[in-house]
Amino acid sequence: MNKRPKIMVVFGTRPEAIKLAPVIKKLEEAKHKFKTIVCVTAQHREMLDQVLRLFKIKVKYDLDLMRHNQSLSGITRMILDGVTGVLKSEKPDLVMVQGDTTTTFASSLAAFYQQIKIAHVEAGLRTDNKYSPFPEEINRRMTSVVTDYHFAPTNQSKENLLCEGVDPKKIFVTGNTVIDTLLMTVGMLKSLKVEKFKELRDIDFSKKIILVTGHRRESFGEGFENICRALKKIADINRNLIIIYPVHLNPNVKKPVHRILGKVENIRLINPLNYKPFVYLMEKSYLILTDSGGIQEEAPSLGKPVLVMRDTTERPEGIKSGTVRLVGTREKEIARETQKLMDSKKEYNRMSRAHNPYGDGKASKRILTILEKSIR
Ligand code: UD1
Ligand code: UDP
Repeated sequence: MNKRPKIMVVFGTRPEAIKLAPVIKKLEEAKHKFKTIVCVTAQHREMLDQVLRLFKIKVKYDLDLMRHNQSLSGITRMILDGVTGVLKSEKPDLVMVQGDTTTTFASSLAAFYQQIKIAHVEAGLRTDNKYSPFPEEINRRMTSVVTDYHFAPTNQSKENLLCEGVDPKKIFVTGNTVIDTLLMTVGMLKSLKVEKFKELRDIDFSKKIILVTGHRRESFGEGFENICRALKKIADINRNLIIIYPVHLNPNVKKPVHRILGKVENIRLINPLNYKPFVYLMEKSYLILTDSGGIQEEAPSLGKPVLVMRDTTERPEGIKSGTVRLVGTREKEIARETQKLMDSKKEYNRMSRAHNPYGDGKASKRILTILEKSIR
């Protein structure tokens, strides 16, 4: 009897876990075909654990690498060493990574050094700006160079890879797995009531809600100060709305956010939310202000307008279809564009159409079918 190919899925942060959860589920369902093992670097700790618990992901190796206020070089070195050790003892046939974090890049480099094949989920996103987002644009480019199976979410991401000379036979357009996770979660939420979420118990949902998240490294310092001042201005002008901001645990984010916004009456600073209450909150929000990659993909499916507080995006599909608008990190623009959506129903309606440029909820199934055909 042939040995089942061994696939090792490696991830480390919240968004990677959210986007790999449905793929791991599909791989586990195909256990007669593949042996699947999960290794987490724990580049994130609490924010990763929330997702592991929610989707009941069984972890064989937990490298527990997160350090307080870690540096890029420090976390890269630890992941490279840690993942290499696991690869040497497990000797998988394929390593699967997702996205563009340091875990993604350093784990694929470790696999390359061991001459193990690599599958990259969410391949081919590009801004063509080396420092924006930083260091993600270069993390994903370097990952592409060593990848054997490029699972591109959209035709645009496939085009980006083709332009860089990637062999078309190695690129597969699958949709983004985040939509699989989102639709599954929206389904679960239908049978739940808000009282279920203790984190949201104090929120008056009869008011208009603006949901905010932010964490990009290129905005640390001045960018974050501007974002916070814009939020304060929006809250002051619109006394009847509530701004809910689950604050990322990175100290470079937490400090300015709490200093500038901690005492504003209609702004709620809360801890990062579990995925289910977060999706619930997205659904209940009037609009979303964010610099997150994943939220730019999820919000169009929910028909929620998104103002992206960044200068570039690797996700042009949402912009083309009108739900997403880039507003940069300057106080004036953020406040002005938000106010436009508060004041003009016409502007708002134009941006709040539900559609799915990033997937149909079947990306993980497609990934599995491709792996079944290619790896024996
Ligand atoms: C990382 C990724 C980024 C991704 C983001 C998703 C890199 C370089 N950055 O950024 O691409 O978009 O995750 O959120 O790979 N912390 C905690 N607990 C946690 C998570 C973080 O305390 O659960 C704090 C720690 O002090 C940690 C710091 O945040 O040192 C930074 O974490 P890190 O993973 O290096 O960067 P992020 O900004 O989270
Ligand atoms: N998210 C969450 N709780 C929160 C904020 C975000 O579960 O408090 C989810 C969100 O729905 C999306 C993902 O986390 O799926 C995005 O993570 P993040 O913004 O940290 O990373 P990025 O997508 O920018 O890499």
